[in-house]
Amino acid sequence: MKRVFLFFISVIAAFQLFAVENTQNKTLRIVTSANFPPYEFIEGSKIVGIDIDIIREVLKRNGYDMSVEDMKFDSVIVSLQTGKGDIAASGLTVTEDRKRQVNFSIPYVSAKQTIIVRKDSAIDSAAALKGVRIGVQHGTTGDSYVTDNIQEPERFDDAAVAVSALLRGKLDAVVLDGEPSKVHVKKNPELKLLDEPLTFEEYAFAVDKKQPELLEKLNKTLKEMQQDGTIDAIIEKYYQHTESAVAENSAENLDEGFCSEIYLNFVKNQRWRYLTDGFFVTVCVAFASVLFGVLIGFGVAIIRSTSDQTGKFKIADWCCRVYLTVIRGTPVVLQLMIIYFVIFSSMDIDKILVAIIAFGINSGAYVAEIIRSGIMSVDRGQMEAGRSLGLSYAKTMNLIILPQAFKNVLPALGNEFIVLLKETSVCGFIALQDLTKGGDIIRSQTYNAFLPLIAVALVYLILVTIFSKLLGMLEKRLKKNEQ
Ligand code: ARG
Repeated sequence: MKRVFLFFISVIAAFQLFAVENTQNKTLRIVTSANFPPYEFIEGSKIVGIDIDIIREVLKRNGYDMSVEDMKFDSVIVSLQTGKGDIAASGLTVTEDRKRQVNFSIPYVSAKQTIIVRKDSAIDSAAALKGVRIGVQHGTTGDSYVTDNIQEPERFDDAAVAVSALLRGKLDAVVLDGEPSKVHVKKNPELKLLDEPLTFEEYAFAVDKKQPELLEKLNKTLKEMQQDGTIDAIIEKYYQHTESAVAENSAENLDEGFCSEIYLNFVKNQRWRYLTDGFFVTVCVAFASVLFGVLIGFGVAIIRSTSDQTGKFKIADWCCRVYLTVIRGTPVVLQLMIIYFVIFSSMDIDKILVAIIAFGINSGAYVAEIIRSGIMSVDRGQMEAGRSLGLSYAKTMNLIILPQAFKNVLPALGNEFIVLLKETSVCGFIALQDLTKGGDIIRSQTYNAFLPLIAVALVYLILVTIFSKLLGMLEKRLKKNEQ
């Protein structure tokens, strides 16, 4: 166990050594959780919102460029500490607990926690929340307020999904920040907002404690922008934006038939693009990582079976065993997050590449065992025959054993690809917009759970069916060649 732990730590340390310090160059990485309109949300392929516009202007005035990283809300603060981001702009409420972990800028807007209920609900005050089903966004101040003062809430990664649950009667109330609540209520006439706020809060940007100069620059420029009216203008712009989006919505969605649902979920605002773009990400990640996995798996299988049969490569064999134990013993979504947030934390690396590496390393462990079982399935006599013909061990392996092993394991390898293709659906944990996440984004914009989920499921199903057919054809061909 200790060895496994040491191995893990040394891999992380090695990667960290290679990590480049990113804060010196002129592009600062903004981290956010883009599910919080009007402060940050996804529109088309862009992340927009009040926070994003304010911080962009702040950085522009200080001569910086910026890139925006989307992630789950509960990862935002951690990502500053692990060096994944430079500034958090995420509707972050200043709290004493958070102040212990990061530094906050001066506040740029005040906010409150509010209660959303269905129009026909009997809940009319905070006091009536006790004992009903309350939804919150995980890790937010709404979450901690309800947990500390009322009861355990139901925690959602995306407040819009909580609102959909409320609409469908699966929750009785949602506790959420005031302005995002207003957006949800405006878009859904079946809902209402209770007047009595639960808390009064202030939003600020956060930076890592090791960046005091950056904080000073932020504060200075924020003050200027408060005085010259820039912040008010940005806030006003997004209020208008919500109004016009809502007006457009209600003009178009008068009838609730199936066709108009299809239009709303897939056609309007070109929402189908979330699915097509996601589709390409999913296919690209799955194919590249299965190739990478086969490469790793092949190497590991050869080392393991050579070591088994000849007693050579003792150390390499030990490393391979540790690799297999660790990878097969932990969930892939944790591996993905560790690789993204810990190993590549301070490296500016494309998320698709991170996913390919994570899924490749994961799949490699399974492929290794598949190939090893293929090698074992070839009769031992074949190796002896090869050797007695005067071929070296490596040559016998290459020319006689591996081709047969490959044929034997082809169905299992195909199956591994199918499993991997579906496993990539956890990419959303690092906010990579794969097919599943594409469906999630549509869901959070249209509050419709049914159509986006079914559409995404259908696409996976079609993909897997096509691939199984292809695999079947390949197997038939190989069989024919045998005869
Ligand atoms: N103001 C709340 C908090 O700081 C909620 C923020 C949620 N932000 C978001 N981008 N989802 O906990």
